[in-house]
Amino acid sequence: MAVSASDMSPQALAALLSFYADSGIGELCEDAAIDRFEQSAALAQARAQSQQQRPTGAPSSSNGETTQRPLSSAPAERPRATAQPVTPAPQASQLTIPGEAAFEDARALAASAGSIPELRAALDGFTGCNLRHSAKTLVFADGNPEADVMFIGEAPGREEDIQGAPFVGRAGQLLDRMLAAIGLTRETAYITNMIPWRPPGNRTPAPHEIELCRPFIERHVALAAPKIVVMLGNVASKSLLGTDKGILSLRGTWMEYEAGGNRIPALPTLHPAYLLRNPAQKRLVWADLLSLQERIEQLRSG
Ligand code: URA
Repeated sequence: MAVSASDMSPQALAALLSFYADSGIGELCEDAAIDRFEQSAALAQARAQSQQQRPTGAPSSSNGETTQRPLSSAPAERPRATAQPVTPAPQASQLTIPGEAAFEDARALAASAGSIPELRAALDGFTGCNLRHSAKTLVFADGNPEADVMFIGEAPGREEDIQGAPFVGRAGQLLDRMLAAIGLTRETAYITNMIPWRPPGNRTPAPHEIELCRPFIERHVALAAPKIVVMLGNVASKSLLGTDKGILSLRGTWMEYEAGGNRIPALPTLHPAYLLRNPAQKRLVWADLLSLQERIEQLRSG
């Protein structure tokens, strides 16, 4: 028997809505109707076209799909948007399926950015990552791009997707407290994520999504040129440091991250969202924060 919303108590309705939100359903109604039949027809057509255009022996992505964008589309010809929120998701006819061309496009776009605002515009114009189609906004960065310390998290969550800024939800509030504990604020730190679009339902980003976004985060670190990089959690630590080791064995050990020809001291530590689920592990992060504070003091005094 179907239950109508009018039969439900306000509490039950609120619980249902928050269940939907936790499941990744952030918007129950779009501003305009979406024709899913048209979308899947366009997708099928794009696949068929790219199968025809791909020369024999040309590489295809691991899921067998290829991009519908020709390899020759030069970065300079891409539309560049600068304003928030992110450029609206492409219509069905523009849907892009990640293929080798998307990876090449990501590398070319990231390399072409000569400043942080240009990098943001390049990301905003990059349509090769499927996550941008389900996200509401591009979550680029927050804080001071000239700060000595750059923090890199995983990917935006629901609150970040709504507000268009990283670490503004519960994990972000804990990150702010972690920063404050060692005398940092968002004026003296720079904060971003590996992935700038929210994965649906806050799932862990897929390996191909991390690889597609990697050129942008690498360029981001090179352009910001921080004196210290702090990787928050498994995804940022493993993918930026190029290791299979888990965060519990990586955390607290100073390493080096190479960006823009510079070797930058890098500290992997636990992600604040993990600490919210495992508060007993805060003592480990406290040790990492003290170590970070010591490095910052050394920097400032030397
Ligand atoms: N978790 C992250 O890794 N990044 C955010 O911005 C928010 C939560």
